[in-house]
Amino acid sequence: MSDVSRPSPAAVPVETRTAVVIPAAGKGVRLGPGAPKALRALNGTPMLIHAVRAMAASRAVSLVVVVAPPDGTAEVKSLLDAHALPERTDFLVVPGGETRQESVKLGLDALPPDYDIVLVHDAARPLVPVDTVDGVIEAVRDGASAVVPALPLADTVKEVEPATVTGEPEPVVATPRRARLRAVQTPQGFDRATLIRAHETVTDDVTDDASMVEQLGLTVVVVPGHEEAFKVTRPLDLVLAEAVLARRRLNDGF
Ligand code: CTP
Ligand code: MG
Repeated sequence: MSDVSRPSPAAVPVETRTAVVIPAAGKGVRLGPGAPKALRALNGTPMLIHAVRAMAASRAVSLVVVVAPPDGTAEVKSLLDAHALPERTDFLVVPGGETRQESVKLGLDALPPDYDIVLVHDAARPLVPVDTVDGVIEAVRDGASAVVPALPLADTVKEVEPATVTGEPEPVVATPRRARLRAVQTPQGFDRATLIRAHETVTDDVTDDASMVEQLGLTVVVVPGHEEAFKVTRPLDLVLAEAVLARRRLNDGF
């Protein structure tokens, strides 16, 4: 007979541990010539540092894995050392790959075993508020295998037959009902085992991690995203990002 005075291991509540993988290995072609996008400055601080701080701002996050440009790991490590970051958070830096999907996979490969919730967050979304991060983590803790923050669209979206020559008129194929569409952001949150299985199974080209989980036949849920979680993609986005930072400074009374 077992010793009834002690709870069985299954009855001991195990605290969930959350890690974030930050793919930051892209070149930023659409932003124009210059350093890799994640290393470009916003108000004097590299975009990547803003993104790392945005993740480490969540008390639930205990590890951040940065996936650096392949020839930029040393630079990224010294940037992390040079900027103030919360002491409760651990940091790892690994080199990235040719595609975002490969970079995320390389980040997942570096995860120590004791994390059961994994977030994936674009370095190119440096200004996501902590409430959005916490909302995603909360939904995974509540049992969802995959969670994405998203917003309704402002523009109507049309599906077209893409032109083979740039600038040629493109025939419209369909107009999905805008009210049913959402623009998806990051951080996307996952039950670790699900995300790893998705990355091992799905080989199609995808533009986000949640769509790989959808391909496994599992349900992905949407929680509210935030305007400030926009992706810095084109030059005008840099202007917007610096304006958001300036507004925050004013509101913080600096
Ligand atoms: N990313 C990555 N590894 C790649 C490509 C992209 O880690 N091989 C990362 C980017 O650094 C970025 C995120 O994935 O944080 C989203 O990608 P995107 O906004 O497309 O960034 P880039 O690929 O750098 O930009 P572009 O497509 O304009 O070159
Ligand atoms: Mg890209």
